[in-house]
Amino acid sequence: MIPAQSLTPKDIVVELNKFIIGQADAKRSVAIALRNRWRRRQVPDPLREEIAPKNIIMIGPTGVGKTEIARRLAGLAQSPFIKVEASKFTEVGYVGRDVESMVRDLVEIAINMVKEEEKERLQGVAEANAEERILDVLLPPVAAKPAATMDAFHAYPGANADDVLPAVSENGKEMDSTREKFRDMLRSGKLDDREVELDLDESRSMPMVEIMTSSGMEDMQSSIQDAFSKIFPKKKKKRKVKIPDALKGLTAEEMERLIDMDSVTSEALKRTEESGIIFLDEIDKVASRSSGGHGPEVSREGVQRDLLPIVEGSTVTTKYGMVKTDHILFIASGAFHLCKPSDLIPELQGRFPIRVELTPLGKEEFVRILTEPESALVKQYTAMMATENVELVFEPDAIDELAAIAVEVNERTEEIGARRLHTVMERVLDELSFDASERGEERFVVTAEYVKKQLQDVVENRDLSRFIL
Ligand SMILES: Nc1ncnc2c1ncn2[C@@H]1O[C@H](COP(=O)(O)OP(=O)(O)OP(=O)(O)O)[C@@H](O)[C@H]1O
Ligand SMILES: [Mg+2]
Repeated sequence: MIPAQSLTPKDIVVELNKFIIGQADAKRSVAIALRNRWRRRQVPDPLREEIAPKNIIMIGPTGVGKTEIARRLAGLAQSPFIKVEASKFTEVGYVGRDVESMVRDLVEIAINMVKEEEKERLQGVAEANAEERILDVLLPPVAAKPAATMDAFHAYPGANADDVLPAVSENGKEMDSTREKFRDMLRSGKLDDREVELDLDESRSMPMVEIMTSSGMEDMQSSIQDAFSKIFPKKKKKRKVKIPDALKGLTAEEMERLIDMDSVTSEALKRTEESGIIFLDEIDKVASRSSGGHGPEVSREGVQRDLLPIVEGSTVTTKYGMVKTDHILFIASGAFHLCKPSDLIPELQGRFPIRVELTPLGKEEFVRILTEPESALVKQYTAMMATENVELVFEPDAIDELAAIAVEVNERTEEIGARRLHTVMERVLDELSFDASERGEERFVVTAEYVKKQLQDVVENRDLSRFIL
């Protein structure tokens, strides 16, 4: 993995190109915004505080890649990144999630991220410690009390310990060399069939405490569960396990001990504040056209109002500590086909200074979307059919025809962008999907004629295509 620092805007665009066809402007903007996070962190202090992130709104019709860009960006951001749907939030006071919860979720992501990094860093140490502990069980240190050693050693159930333990002499050197011998055996897997009895942390089954959370109380449940886990400390349980499993269990236990949660937390909070990114999808769903309306409209505008302070910069309380949102980058996106960005409350509009438009997709793009991205539909179906021993081949003409039909159906019924490809494709391969399992080994070539044949009646019948495609 390339470290975040080295991803230049160009690199980011190259990465995005692997999955998203066209939409160069949008890719460019998000790439610059991402890099700006890093640039800001390099600026010396008094000025750095002043540099505010330039939030972005991506606007474009449905099914042209807005959410797709967000998804792929998440993999590249290498900083805490969360994608949320604006439509799922409700105004404070209403039942539902309040907008601050997105910051809390972001912190949670940062915590996991830092913890994973720590785990990677400490893996070697944890494994080494676990190995020592296993060796201690196999060959109890001389100083240990005999009773305890006997207790701990059950490598050969039913066998007399004397048969198994190499003569533990008082001579330390001999002891060491035996230990090394065992270490070699352990590493080469010669002891894999042995069982040892260990005191392992019992997988924690928490008493289930559920609390009806209303907005603002999101963290209540988890903090109460934390409190409970302190009241009921982890239980140790004696268990007989095979050595490889014992190693795994002990490594995990050692890891828990080695990771310093305090420093993980402070690093995670810092990262959230300095480089966190929140992708607000479906922002148009909280825009309302008429102001002063009733019903859901009221609470939507409320959501926008609640969003303001977070986007502007405020402090959110999380169970890990306070998080200042001043430097979190927001990327919003929406189709805005029923309303315009100007329908958002003015204060919110002002906080998204960069607007990028995504363009509708045409036949050429469809052809590329079908074949080029790493997860392209054609590749997906080919792989799926391969599991049935059917070699699925699309002739270039067939792809062309598919794209053309998708465009046609989009025009005739409703414009749903590249999503149309999914429905069209599914329909074309309907027969094959149904009986591929019985076909046995075969090569199945999809030609333009086949595509036409499968789709013709549906495409021609406008009413039918409304339902089927
Ligand atoms: N430019 C593109 N390149 C590759 N695939 C695309 C592109 N646009 C859309 N797709 C495909 O179409 C599907 C829908 O796209 P996406 O979810 O990004 O739509 P959207 O722009 O978020 O629409 P909506 O406004 O309805 O949320 C995706 O799963 C993706 O596979
Ligand atoms: Mg979307």
